[in-house]
Amino acid sequence: MKTPVRVTVTGAAGQISYALLFRIASGAMLGNDQPVILQLLEITPALDALKGVAMELDDCAFPLLQEIVCTDDAEVAFKDSDYALLVGARPRGPGMERKDLLEANAAIFSAQGKAMDKTASRDIKVLVVGNPANTNSLIAQRNAPSLDPRNFTAMTRLDHNRSLTQLAQKTGSSSDKVTQMTIWGNHSATQYPDLHNTLVDGKNAMELIEQNWYAEEFIPTVQQRGAAIIKARGLSSAASAANAAIDHMRTWAMGTPEGDWTSMGVYSDGSYGIQEGLIYSFPVTCTDGDWAIVQGLEINDFSREKMTATETELAEERDAVAHLLP
Ligand code: NAI
Repeated sequence: MKTPVRVTVTGAAGQISYALLFRIASGAMLGNDQPVILQLLEITPALDALKGVAMELDDCAFPLLQEIVCTDDAEVAFKDSDYALLVGARPRGPGMERKDLLEANAAIFSAQGKAMDKTASRDIKVLVVGNPANTNSLIAQRNAPSLDPRNFTAMTRLDHNRSLTQLAQKTGSSSDKVTQMTIWGNHSATQYPDLHNTLVDGKNAMELIEQNWYAEEFIPTVQQRGAAIIKARGLSSAASAANAAIDHMRTWAMGTPEGDWTSMGVYSDGSYGIQEGLIYSFPVTCTDGDWAIVQGLEINDFSREKMTATETELAEERDAVAHLLP
């Protein structure tokens, strides 16, 4: 039996977590032979609801679930944590400007960054799901100076998965036949889903579709999918977001398949001319628990313009919270 790993989930009584925790505990994220200790963080008023979730986790009798810690203290939640999924965030309230939203979240993610800096495992792998995910990840990273910035990521895997299905449906294929998909930039409406290097059953996607469908339908559909779900369901995506979080962490821990890559918001090292230090979504491969940006992809003018637009948005978000960044 492997040694248990500690998995922290914030916003653990929320709707994404309700679809997420049971899959982590079942082994879907880290494998059927990896015991886990769940360290669940919530705000104080949600601790009763969290207790109910913990009771349900108990009632599943998951063999891999060794212990559940429920707390409203970030230092307790991140203590010796190996994996952290930061789902809890402040939603946009009535009359709240974008800047207010950024600031409210900056307060949450700076406190959590500091707590990780103090108490987490030095190898912690952090995934930020709570929006604005890329900038929240940047804030946590900057507040955890003793941790490697490469440990901090943001989720664009849901956008990646959405793109796989949209393209598979258009080409009469299936999502497992689609490889080398890329989401560039911010998890927002400026994100750029790029099909120029994508393959469907080994054939270049751009040769199977029309430019018009790509530019006028595919890209906006992926960019606006979150809003379309809210309109249809009356609530934001939860099960698909949880599924993407599972995928992101599993790929990071266990690796990308040979000949394929995934999309992750990661610390930019300046690859493809993207400003260093932004948490920007790139095509990445994962091996042995580490990630690397795929190098050498050709970028045409169409792609460059879209990559720059989403980079500019991320730089603006960073600048809006600059006074809160150490
Ligand atoms: P929710 O409102 O159901 O749950 C959020 C939970 O976070 C609540 O239980 C709340 O009490 C908790 N929370 C708030 N502040 C906290 C703090 N400081 N510490 C710990 N917990 C805290 O929201 P839901 O639907 O679960 O979504 C969570 C976040 O994920 C939202 O920001 C949403 O926009 C984002 N999201 C991101 C996606 C992505 O692809 N990156 C996709 C879908 C949603």
